[in-house]
Amino acid sequence: MTGWRHSSSGTPREGPLYRAAAPAKINLTLTVLGPPRPDGYHELRGVFARLALADDLTVRTSGTSPTRSGDMLRMRPGSAGVRTGDDLALQAAEALRSWAGRPLPRLALAMRKRIPVAAGLAGGSSDAATALRLARRAWGLDVGEDELAAIALTLGSDVPFFLGPSPIALVGGRGEKVAPLPADGVAGTGVLLVSGEGKPSTAGVFVAHDAEVRRKRRRGAQTCEARRAALPAAASALAATERLVALLEGDASPARLVELAPALHDANDLYPAATRVTPGLAELRERVEQVLARPALFSGAGPTFFVLYPSPEEARDALRTLRAGLGRAGGAVRPPRLIATAIAAD
Ligand code: C5P
Repeated sequence: MTGWRHSSSGTPREGPLYRAAAPAKINLTLTVLGPPRPDGYHELRGVFARLALADDLTVRTSGTSPTRSGDMLRMRPGSAGVRTGDDLALQAAEALRSWAGRPLPRLALAMRKRIPVAAGLAGGSSDAATALRLARRAWGLDVGEDELAAIALTLGSDVPFFLGPSPIALVGGRGEKVAPLPADGVAGTGVLLVSGEGKPSTAGVFVAHDAEVRRKRRRGAQTCEARRAALPAAASALAATERLVALLEGDASPARLVELAPALHDANDLYPAATRVTPGLAELRERVEQVLARPALFSGAGPTFFVLYPSPEEARDALRTLRAGLGRAGGAVRPPRLIATAIAAD
């Protein structure tokens, strides 16, 4: 990195450079437990997993002049699609600055973006979590893990998960309850990511989900059959979460996780709503499943699906098969973006 090394007088003005990865995440399961809370958020329960696919972040203090703000973010080459002005990593630095409540040197952040933007892989949230950790070190702040997690939650519901000690966790509340799960058994499980086009806003998908639940309730009031159908869709996703947690806490392996994939197929409660607000999503899933003959699972609010394999090599082979077999899917203008990666080891 160049450009911030010395002041015009030649005096070193920069602190040491701190570097860390900011991994992507998938939701192996995601249950929406009820209607919006008074604060507008929904209570969730789901198993989140970090991936080897990651952005790279560096942070150092730059300049001694105490400023309230003026932190800078530079995107490294190949990092398309991020507006540096409103990036969540910069907002994270700002939030920590406010927490400190005293003048701190300007921060220079640099990022190489590898996680697709607006894909439901929580890249921005992960960047923010990593920026919090790195900024804490660069500024030498004595902020504890609990306080850091509280600051993280002000940046977004997905951010606290990335501060957790395990790459796999059972997440609850609106995202702030992060219970680590054993991850060693399934680290290295191959993951093929398939990102469709068009990111609906997460808020929009939750609103569509609420509307869907209300619609089912109304229908449910009319017939007994429909009343059964109106039972919380959550039930199947919760059962899948139970099975997954039992596997992770038992004799887990990549092969066993792959075996469980069919049970995770309908374990994201946001999927039906996401298909309503994201054109081409259901068609993309169908095509992926036709070509690969495996379940395509849905991450977050979309538009990314993931397919599990016993190894990263098999995920890479599947990527080639899918690229050849998929072409243009679901009327999308561009073919879906494909990335082969794995469940993270730490
Ligand atoms: O927390 P975050 O900014 O990522 O959330 C984006 C939007 O997603 C929220 O404004 C809210 O509408 C919705 N959301 C929710 N319940 C959650 C997380 C997010 O309703 N647990």
